[in-house]
Amino acid sequence: MALSVVILAAGKGTRMQSSLPKVLHPIGGVPMVQRIINTVNKLGSNKLGSDPIYDIDVNSINLVYGHGADLLKTALSDNAVNWCLQAEQLGTGHAVQQAAEFIDPQDDVLVLVGDAPLIKAETLRKLHAVKANADVALLTVDLADPTGMGRIIRDASGDNITAIVEHKDATDAQRKITEINTGVMILNGADLLGWLDGLENNNAQGEFYLTDVIAMAAAQGKSIQSAQPESAVEVEGVNNRVHLAKLERALQLENAQQAMLSGATLADPARFDVRGELTVGNDVFIDVNCVFEGTVTLGNNVRIGQNCLLQNCTVADDTVIEANSIVQDAQVGEACQVGPYARLRPGSVLSKKAKVGNFVEMKKSTLGEGAKANHLTYLGDATVGANANIGAGTITCNYDGVNKSQTVIGANAFIGSNSSLVAPVTIGDTATVGAGSVVTKDVEDNTLAIARAKQRHLSGWERPSKK
Ligand code: UD1
Ligand code: MG
Repeated sequence: MALSVVILAAGKGTRMQSSLPKVLHPIGGVPMVQRIINTVNKLGSNKLGSDPIYDIDVNSINLVYGHGADLLKTALSDNAVNWCLQAEQLGTGHAVQQAAEFIDPQDDVLVLVGDAPLIKAETLRKLHAVKANADVALLTVDLADPTGMGRIIRDASGDNITAIVEHKDATDAQRKITEINTGVMILNGADLLGWLDGLENNNAQGEFYLTDVIAMAAAQGKSIQSAQPESAVEVEGVNNRVHLAKLERALQLENAQQAMLSGATLADPARFDVRGELTVGNDVFIDVNCVFEGTVTLGNNVRIGQNCLLQNCTVADDTVIEANSIVQDAQVGEACQVGPYARLRPGSVLSKKAKVGNFVEMKKSTLGEGAKANHLTYLGDATVGANANIGAGTITCNYDGVNKSQTVIGANAFIGSNSSLVAPVTIGDTATVGAGSVVTKDVEDNTLAIARAKQRHLSGWERPSKK
């Protein structure tokens, strides 16, 4: 049976103290609600799924929103969701009603809360499996402190759920129950639509509670079964930035564990952040305070020093990235050495055994096998041949204020320190440039080019004195 998904995200999130809607605050670098949509997409579907891991046919994703419509629609523009406006937040039942027009009565309906970002696909799969043998499947969890939550009421046998009672409406005896409603449930579309019509708001909060449908289901003799997540953190909601930070750390600890189980030693799993997808080989070492963004792949035996930022890049086997380096949209080959304090900007490509040392910046440039730029250099729009040596302080002058131009440096070339290579310019194979040169014309292979003023000596010259 196909699944219609309803994500409840109309709450204002006042306690975030933010102009950004709560559900757009990022966790692991991804807006909370986007993370939830990604998780739903993993359930598998013909129409929506990008990376299906199960075979559940997700028919539609319906997002109930109330605040920050423009920001939400911009942030989520890549997603095929139905937008369901809940202009006034009259309760979770009223919220689901705003999606009614998109709910196929033939479908199962999965209700999710937009501010509990760590829900896992495995857990939703488990709930879906429970629903296969029940009319309603509820995701519940046991909490040591269930204050504020809806309590799960069971019959004397404990096997059957008969109602959910909200904390504010609960008796003292009911408040002692530690099994709570996570807000996540799966119901038959036709049943749900019927029950929503019957909701009333005569309760402590004057709201239309979605949770009231459970007592209606029980009254009709429907079977209501539960499933539990592996960890309560999966269903924990974010109300303020303190909660957000707590869930961020929980997520990062899990990312750290995944990296360790895949072959990386982490100097400190508590000082490690993945904001995207990190793939590691065996015997990788990652020192403290490194951040991995986008898609990053590290080969075997890669070592990353302290305080590095790696974004959308691949680093091949046996390479060392020393402390305080930044690698963005770059490809680093095998057995290379980068940093400390190197900055590889987008389009940087290092061939095998290349070296980029401290205070070297590269952009849209390729270093050939064994080529070196060890100190204080800028290589922009440049191609450097194998085993070339770029002396300290070399600058490729790639920009004339309007256009960018290319610099080509041949294999085995030697560029003396503090040279400016004014692009477009080509330095031939095994050519040498004298230190301090400003090179504006191409240099032939096997040639020494010196482009600087000659040294003069004025003997007995006297310095000016103060007037
Ligand atoms: C709800 C449940 C409670 C459960 C708890 C778990 C109800 C009545 N209660 O309580 O049983 O233990 O979640 O966290 O369902 N929302 C809307 N429109 C509204 C109201 C809420 O979209 O009119 C959204 C919120 O943005 C949020 C979610 O629904 O994402 C839950 O709402 P919230 O106000 O946090 O419900 P709780 O009182 O926590
Ligand atoms: Mg809540």
